[in-house]
Formats: sequence, C-alpha cells, structure tokens
Amino acid sequence: MKRKSRKCKAKSNLKTVKLGLDPENAIEITDSDNECTEELWTMSYAIVAEGLTKKFGKFLAVDNISFSVQEGEFFGLLGPNGAGKTTIIRMLTGVLKPEVGRIKIDGVDLDKEPLILKERMGVIPEVGTVYLDLTARENLDLFGRYYGLPKKLRDERGERLLRELGLYDRADSLVKNFSKGMRQRISIGCAILHEPKVLLLDEPTEGLDVQSRRMIVEKVKGLNAKGSTIILTTHNIEEASRLCQRVCIIDKGRIVAIDSPEHLRSTLEKLQSVEVSFNRRVDPSLFSAQCISRVEEQGDKLKIFTSNPDEAIEKIMAVKKELVLNIVSLSTVGPTLEDVFVKLTEAHT
Ligand SMILES: Nc1ncnc2c1ncn2[C@@H]1O[C@H](COP(=O)(O)OP(=O)(O)OP(=O)(O)O)[C@@H](O)[C@H]1O
Ligand SMILES: [Mg+2]
Repeated sequence: MKRKSRKCKAKSNLKTVKLGLDPENAIEITDSDNECTEELWTMSYAIVAEGLTKKFGKFLAVDNISFSVQEGEFFGLLGPNGAGKTTIIRMLTGVLKPEVGRIKIDGVDLDKEPLILKERMGVIPEVGTVYLDLTARENLDLFGRYYGLPKKLRDERGERLLRELGLYDRADSLVKNFSKGMRQRISIGCAILHEPKVLLLDEPTEGLDVQSRRMIVEKVKGLNAKGSTIILTTHNIEEASRLCQRVCIIDKGRIVAIDSPEHLRSTLEKLQSVEVSFNRRVDPSLFSAQCISRVEEQGDKLKIFTSNPDEAIEKIMAVKKELVLNIVSLSTVGPTLEDVFVKLTEAHT
C-alpha cells in the first residue's frame, strides 16, 4: 500500500482548520486530530486512520482523511448521503483497501494482521450480514464459532443476548421471517457476542422504531461502559449528540470538523438565537441591528439569530416599547448540533 502522508508536519500536532463557511460566518476550530503526525501512528490509540484515500474509478470517494480514536471513546461519523462514511467503515474493517493511507487498530496494522484484528472487532455493516436461512440462535452460534468462542460460552452469551435483545420467544424462527428491527437486533447480537474491543456500527438504528432503537443504543452504551471503543455512523444528529464524546463531520469525502458536540455547538456562536412571540404579528425587518445576523418567521414566533443574545434582547425590548407590544414568550436557544451540521455541510453543496 502506498503511503502519502508520512511526511506530515512533523511536530505540529495542533492544526487550525478553517471551516468552509461563507466569509461572514467563517470560524476556526483548533483541532489536534484532523491530521495525524508520525508520532500519532506510534501512540497507543484504539484506532488511527492516516491519510485514507479511496477512489471508485475516477471518483474520489474519500480524500486524505486522518483521525484517531482513543481507547474507550464513543466516536461519531456524521455526514450527508454519499459523504463517504460507509466507505470509511469498510476500509476500517478491511473490506476495502485504501489506495493511500494506513490503519492501525488496537495497536495492530490492519494491512499486516487483518485476521487478528477481525477477531477484536465487531461490525454492523450498512447491509446486514446475518444469515436469513438460519434461526436467531443458529446465527449467534455461527458467529460465536467464527470468533473462536468455546461452546459453553457461546451458549451462555447467546442465551443472554436473546433475552436482552427481546428475541427469546423467536430464538428458533428463521431470520428471513423477522421484521427489519428484529433483524437489526440479531445483527447487533452477532456483532457483540465476542465482546469486541472495537465496535463499528454503520447506521445501526436507521428506520427502527423507538423500542428497537433504545434497545440497540442501550446495548452499545453498555459495551462502551465496559471499555469497548465505538465508531458510530448515523444521520441521527440528536443521537450522535447524546452518545458521542466526539463527532467527525464528513462532507464529500473530506473531514470538515472533529470535536465534541458541545464544543462544535459553542464554536458557532452566530447560530445562537432568541425566540420571541408577541401578541400580534411584527415585521421581521424591524429587528435589524449589528448583533443580529438573520430573522426567521416560524409560525407565531420570530427566531432571531445573533452572536450576542443580550444585545438582541435589548433590541427586542426597544421594538416592543416602540410598537406597544406584549411579549407572549421569549427564550434563548443555543445552536443545536443540527444547526452546526447544516452550516458546515451547506457550504459544499
Ligand atoms: N462500490 C462502489 N462503486 C462506486 N462508487 C461507490 C462505491 N461505494 C461507494 N461509492 C460512492 O462513494 C461515495 C460515498 O459512498 P458511501 O456509501 O461511503 O456514502 P455514505 O456517507 O455512507 O452515504 P449514506 O449516508 O447514503 O449511507 C458515493 O458517491 C457512492 O456513490
Ligand atoms: Mg452509508
């Protein structure tokens, strides 16, 4: 495998990433993981991906992506359709080979020891891998054998997982007769039966009902609490925000930000807003002020975007006084991770 980023800026571990926003909203995030250094490769991270690049024909699906994940970390990959998330997961699991770049998991170079790593990993791919012509119990047993678990352990853990995943009553039914949510639950069971050190999940809760989603999330959280490192790709920003210690936002095959959900939210101060409703409709254009970047009318509310909520509220009060209005409700709203995600990815569309 060719390696491109070996001579990456030797000791400058800290890198400032200018995010692709319009000039008015441009922000800078200081980020230490967006580009790996030679040292990073030798340090003990659970996962190091360095300079990953993948082309399909002439199409560049993943473009020189580097990140590292600490042991026990819950790490999210977020991005719009076609961003390259599944391609990254497939490279991390050894299904696809990057043209350029290298991957180390649990201290082992994936290119050199793929089989050792397969035993330490659990994977929920985008398209399920469970066997439809086997029962739930048989699937668990087969995966247990793949991972070399002795029969007693396979039986014990299989039984426990069938109960925990709410499949005990259907343990001996063929998986092809399962609903989507039930199939996803048994996929989770098969991926975690061997209690992997690293679990890679590609949209495990997509299209599931609340109960199935909760069950899967609880199971994955439990595994993480016991020390497993998790990479989760999802479109569910709220879920990523709740579960992940850091999220990596990908767009068009490139990283646009890596940070904690909280820090991403606070960095985009201009996405703070004040929501106000009055006893009658007010023309949004009356709220023009330097501290106010935009005003949106949302039903009976006005959403006033500002970098300084305090000053924005003063402006609201001035308009209220001038027009002799009553305030029905007023609240300040921090940017949601969804606001951040849209902002970071819209500049590319
Ligand atoms: N085997 C393949 N052959 C050709 N192009 C591919 C292949 N796999 C992926 N691509 C392309 O690479 C890009 C990234 O695809 P990928 O599946 O990684 O996106 P994604 O972020 O997982 O999207 P989604 O959110 O829809 O699952 C897309 O443009 C896709 O069409
Ligand atoms: Mg995908």
